[in-house]
Amino acid sequence: MKKKIFSGVQPTGNLHLGNYLGAIKNFVSLNNDNKNECIFCVVDLHAITIAQDSITLRENIRETVATFIACGIDPKKSIIFNQSKVAAHSEAAWILSCVARMGWLNRMTQFKEKAGKDKENASVGLYSYPVLMAADILLYDSTHVPVGNDQKQHLELCRDIAQKFNNDFKVENFFKIPEPLIQKEFSRIMSLKDGSKKMSKSETSDLSRINLTDGNDQILNKIKKAKTDSLPIPSTVKELNDRPEARNLIGIYSSISDSTLESSIQKFSGKNFSDFKENLSEILIDKLSPISDEIKRLLKEKSYLDEILEEGSKKAENIASKKIREIHDIIGF
Ligand code: AMP
Ligand code: TRP
Repeated sequence: MKKKIFSGVQPTGNLHLGNYLGAIKNFVSLNNDNKNECIFCVVDLHAITIAQDSITLRENIRETVATFIACGIDPKKSIIFNQSKVAAHSEAAWILSCVARMGWLNRMTQFKEKAGKDKENASVGLYSYPVLMAADILLYDSTHVPVGNDQKQHLELCRDIAQKFNNDFKVENFFKIPEPLIQKEFSRIMSLKDGSKKMSKSETSDLSRINLTDGNDQILNKIKKAKTDSLPIPSTVKELNDRPEARNLIGIYSSISDSTLESSIQKFSGKNFSDFKENLSEILIDKLSPISDEIKRLLKEKSYLDEILEEGSKKAENIASKKIREIHDIIGF
């Protein structure tokens, strides 16, 4: 049976190495397997759960598409579109918000993190964000959802919502129960400045992340300044346990070079971090500079990027509008 793959990325700028290694690299290999049907969505409705400037948002939508393509997603094979262009997403999100329970949403850690201390002032959208994400996934009968580790809880909520809808309306198998696809090793890339925080678009210090549009000098400089500790590189994975920064850098090396943590440690065991960092910068530049150049080139071709979104939206609309009509029937509208 064909796997139906769906995933989304928010157009909030600064796409970084964490997005690439945690999610987009996996999108590319799924796209390359002809047995899969893939849909990659620029989730602009999710982006506005936190206030956005309209000019920047429009640029970031195009930049996300450019990044998908530059990383190797083929728009002829996979559907690439932006969420706001397919009205069924908002509609299904409303319907599913009547299925999801307050208690379920109250447990979501991402809301707690993003809302911070001032919960009263967070948007209602930020709170119901995971319900919209469930709508995205369920509208396309998705069987597999590749995401970074931070989205695991949202995927579990999506499965709960699907199951409750199927039970409540006695429509067994109507919504498919999707499986998360999360990288086994290094599904969570951490900040270069603090190994206990994840690498993030919104972190104020640009030195905390490697952006996919960074030039070679920026990569060199950021790796040089990345936090480490004073010990040399150990000989076993276990010895990295209490060394979050060391573990993160060696993990990044393993992930970008498609090798295991074990074999990377063997390679550098006993060396100090300055030697290792040289190797790490080299491989990062080798892998990322073609991506960065291609993103910059594609960003100049606005109408090409807009066409991809328009065509993708038509294809997505075809699938989603059919599903939403079935939902109407089941509910009694
Ligand atoms: P977002 O930028 O929040 O839309 O995330 C897009 C994708 O990148 C999602 O699948 C996230 O789980 C993944 N992601 C974001 N940050 C990281 C990180 N630091 N490490 C691994 N994956 C990440
Ligand atoms: N919430 C996801 C994130 O921040 C993005 C997203 C929205 C998504 N809808 C999705 C991911 C559907 C997978 C499937 O990373």
